Amino acid sequence: MASAAMLNSPCNVGAVKFEVKVKPSPNLLSARTSIRLNRRRVLTIRASNESGSEPLRKMGLTDEECEAAVVAGNAPEAPPVPPKPAAPSGTPIVSTLPINRRPRRNRRSSAVRAAFQETSISPANLVYPLFIHEGEEDTPIGAMPGCYRLGWRHGLVEEVAKARDVGVNSIVLFPKVPDALKTSTGDEAYNENGLVPRAIRLLKDKYPDLVIYTDVALDPYSSDGHDGIVREDGVIMNDETVHQLCKQAVAQARAGADVVSPSDMMDGRVGAIRTALDAEGFQHVSIMSYTAKYASSFYGPFREALDSNPRFGDKKTYQMNPANYREALVELQADESEGADILLVKPGLPYLDIIRLLRDKSPLPIAAYQVSGEYSMIKAGGVLKMIDEERVMMESLMCLRRAGADIILTYFALQAGRCLCGEKR
Ligand code: PBG
Repeated sequence: MASAAMLNSPCNVGAVKFEVKVKPSPNLLSARTSIRLNRRRVLTIRASNESGSEPLRKMGLTDEECEAAVVAGNAPEAPPVPPKPAAPSGTPIVSTLPINRRPRRNRRSSAVRAAFQETSISPANLVYPLFIHEGEEDTPIGAMPGCYRLGWRHGLVEEVAKARDVGVNSIVLFPKVPDALKTSTGDEAYNENGLVPRAIRLLKDKYPDLVIYTDVALDPYSSDGHDGIVREDGVIMNDETVHQLCKQAVAQARAGADVVSPSDMMDGRVGAIRTALDAEGFQHVSIMSYTAKYASSFYGPFREALDSNPRFGDKKTYQMNPANYREALVELQADESEGADILLVKPGLPYLDIIRLLRDKSPLPIAAYQVSGEYSMIKAGGVLKMIDEERVMMESLMCLRRAGADIILTYFALQAGRCLCGEKR
């Protein structure tokens, strides 16, 4: 007999508490069987914890008899209003404040709070960034506890299955490219049999409805660790880089990518990529532009993950100055007019004002990237027991939504998806 596990939602961000009963089939031994069995899981969802209170005994009276009794002054008894709860002794006796606005009225119970909650979050809003490599094993990433460089043939496929199981059906791929394939012009970026195109083809073969986002930038393929081609004097060459990015985007689209995402911050790349995709018959492939990507120190752990630290200098001649706000509008106008489908802000939490700015100024969907440094700080705080990791995670994601993000790229996608499904690890 299958044992019925009962799992209560551990981190219920405001809304009604759902009791989720999951009945797995007898053995969930290997990952592969669990994937197949999971589809047959029985989900019983009830909107409250009360297990159907006893119906009150009836007297067998007709409606007319009930009304007549009340009219005759013999109303049946109902419980009295409970007495006012006592305050602790020593509570000061004060006159009531003369205020007519008491915002706490709308927060007084979880049902009331749930009714007036303005923002919600669902696993469908999450995009799961995954690091892949050529190896067979999954290698832990030191600076990002819980994240791995996944083997593209096994670990990647299993991780995607787990994410889909909790409703996270969108991923973005980041490759760790062998050093021997890195060059100053990053040509491996458009090798149609490179790591990313191969991984896309494998995933699309297994999960045709998976939404695959790709990163368009040269840094994982560049021997200089920069997002563009570096001239002798250190200048990042814009238009020549855009030429390479177009080839990279087309190679990804040809492999089956749904959304290509230029994260390089070269000028004019969105329009050029749109033209290149269309010329090759990829009108249906979307562009998520990193519209406002800041030169941030929060990317540190990511660069360790991909071993993609710039060999010299920094990325300040193409990524934006963290001190700038209005400049995001310049990028917004360019990306909109060049045909971007989704606008992304990066990092996430320290840049909520930029998310809100783009949300208010554009009708396009907005994405926020909760980057590696944000993830690692929350993880570290959790490991050190300084904060409640899961609650801080869910709050940070909710805040990104509140600021105006439609979708969130986050390394917490699987963990948050589990949380939102009421599963506890
Ligand atoms: C580079 C790229 C970076 C990230 C995504 N794409 C790092 C960088 O600009 O150096 C960072 C993501 C993260 O920190 O989580 N194209």
